[in-house]
Amino acid sequence: MITGKTKIIGIFGDPIEHTFSPLLHNSAFRELGLDYCYVPFLVKSERLKEAIEAIRALNFIGVNITVPHKEAVIPYLDEIKEEAKYIEAVNTILNNNGKLIGFNTDAYGFINSIFEEGVRVKGSNILLLGAGGAAKAVAFGILKEGGNLFVFNRTLSKAYKLKETFQKMGNIEIIKEINADIMKNFQIVVNATSLGLKDNDPMPINPNFLSRDQVYIDLIYKDTPLLKEAKKCGCKTLDGSGMLIWQAAKAFEIWIGKAAPLPLMKKIFKDKKNY
Ligand code: ATR
Repeated sequence: MITGKTKIIGIFGDPIEHTFSPLLHNSAFRELGLDYCYVPFLVKSERLKEAIEAIRALNFIGVNITVPHKEAVIPYLDEIKEEAKYIEAVNTILNNNGKLIGFNTDAYGFINSIFEEGVRVKGSNILLLGAGGAAKAVAFGILKEGGNLFVFNRTLSKAYKLKETFQKMGNIEIIKEINADIMKNFQIVVNATSLGLKDNDPMPINPNFLSRDQVYIDLIYKDTPLLKEAKKCGCKTLDGSGMLIWQAAKAFEIWIGKAAPLPLMKKIFKDKKNY
């Protein structure tokens, strides 16, 4: 129940009605008996600055930031954590007595979700498909953990831009063309493009290039056509649901100062069609 003492956390985005985060966090608060409430707010781009000021004015504990505000929010914050600077996007804000601190929990989410499944990053050659927002979070996580990163993107200039941003963190190379020979070098393939979200999307690479000793990771939360092909081929496969849950768990920890109830969050996500 909401009382005079209830602490508020929000999520700002446009659109916002499909967000899964309120269910995840409110269930976690209930499970742990915490007097917090997580509320979605539809925030239009032209009112983002006012919305950020409202975090202080209304004494929110913090907020999540989602599409399309993750980059635009940066100039309005008082401090930006290292990972968010690299990724050039903030998805979590903590209100520390009026000082707004920007974090990005996506890289942490990605790494923890794959570590949990026993995927080894250190010393592995990892092919990253894509060079957009999601790809930058993956790049940060992989380089931080000592993986060798190879980036392939439709727009080559964006891949070079990503390399420029991240090269001081570790080994990163651009792949200009995917073929069967090149594919033999990689132990892990990550799809961080948006291909697979829509039913008629082409696959980001030819599935015949995959081999059963490779791990295929898709950041999309459902079985994309390429993920299905990778499974058929005998690859170990992971979809994006683990990353979603672990990034939420990290945000929870930043706001509340306690570990999130991961098993509950996983169950809620798995049963999401029931809500
Ligand atoms: P997100 O925040 O989900 O990462 P984004 O920043 O718009 O979204 O990035 C989308 C990624 O998917 C980019 O790497 C994009 O490639 P471009 O840089 O060439 O645009 C990739 N992508 C989207 N549609 C694609 C398509 N039809 N073919 C190949 N890559 C595509």
